[in-house]
Amino acid sequence: MTQKRVSLTQYLVEQQRMHGHIPGQLRLLIEVVARACKRIAISVNKGALGDVLGTAGTENVQGEVQKKLDVIANEVLIEANEWGGHLAAMASEEMDGIYVVPNRFPQGEYMLLFDPLDGSSNIDVNVSIGTIFSVLKKPEGHTGVSEEDFLQPGSQQAAAGYCIYGPQTTLVLTVGDGVAMFTLDREQGSFVLVQDDVRIPADTKEFAINMSNMRHWAPPVRRYIDECLAGKEGPRGKDFNMRWVASMVADVHRILTRGGIFMYPWDQREPDKPGKLRLLYEANPMSFLVEQAGGAATNGQQRILDVKPGKLHERVSVILGSKNEVERVTAYHQEAAR
Ligand code: AHG
Ligand code: MN
Ligand code: MN
Repeated sequence: MTQKRVSLTQYLVEQQRMHGHIPGQLRLLIEVVARACKRIAISVNKGALGDVLGTAGTENVQGEVQKKLDVIANEVLIEANEWGGHLAAMASEEMDGIYVVPNRFPQGEYMLLFDPLDGSSNIDVNVSIGTIFSVLKKPEGHTGVSEEDFLQPGSQQAAAGYCIYGPQTTLVLTVGDGVAMFTLDREQGSFVLVQDDVRIPADTKEFAINMSNMRHWAPPVRRYIDECLAGKEGPRGKDFNMRWVASMVADVHRILTRGGIFMYPWDQREPDKPGKLRLLYEANPMSFLVEQAGGAATNGQQRILDVKPGKLHERVSVILGSKNEVERVTAYHQEAAR
């Protein structure tokens, strides 16, 4: 007997029928993003054969050197999304300002934000990378669209997800009703549902942090990791394992699959920056997914989804994953503040 396969399209249609929160424009948006990710996956897979490795020779607004694939993925996402009539504007980690849908196309009610290529340092070494996206609704009551419209807390997201380009290409999605995963069937050319109702276990014995920054961390982070490292003999009474891929998509994907805690906290290297990761393109979509899977996400002081962005490229300290561990790190921050 062949197993019944559910495509992304069928999933979206059925979700709309059951819960009514994927209206036509949003469904189109998600399908277009999925199609763009398929194109990006093809480039990623070609690697050196497609001349997509190495640097583009340019810098983005954050002063980071752009890789060829950062630029390619950004272009693919823009090109795929600008004509459908589902968007008013887009914002990306790789663009200085917002990209308003040109007026030769109809304007839609959504706004798309993305990190076109996450894990840039892993491209050339053939390690998992991905695309992260977040969807907001354009605020009502005025015509046109401005940067200001994008400065909404993550709790306002209509949808969020990522596509990981790893051993499998997998799209992970939430529209605010749990998390579903779809793996690309290359022969068929479509994303097929492989898991719905993804859940992150509340407890874990696995943490992810870049340990090379240890000497720069704030005391609560240092305390948490020290206690993990102390293992069975320490206050936690159990041994911990560590993983750090340095692609947020890959680290979060592992956490959605088997639990864990991920931290890219503020540190003293650049004390004026709240963190390394970007609130709108990385922290918000990942926090939405993690919360929808029963996990938690904080900057140490506040739930990430409640942070009101002050600017487009705002950065934030990120602690997310298994609920009980995130709550423990939060408690350590509260104790340190008292
Ligand atoms: P990007 O490639 O989009 O700039 O993001 C890289 C991010 C994130 O994916 C990862 O968790 C982190 O940077 C890794 O940073 P370190 O190299 O400092 O560990
Ligand atoms: Mn990134
Ligand atoms: Mn990126």
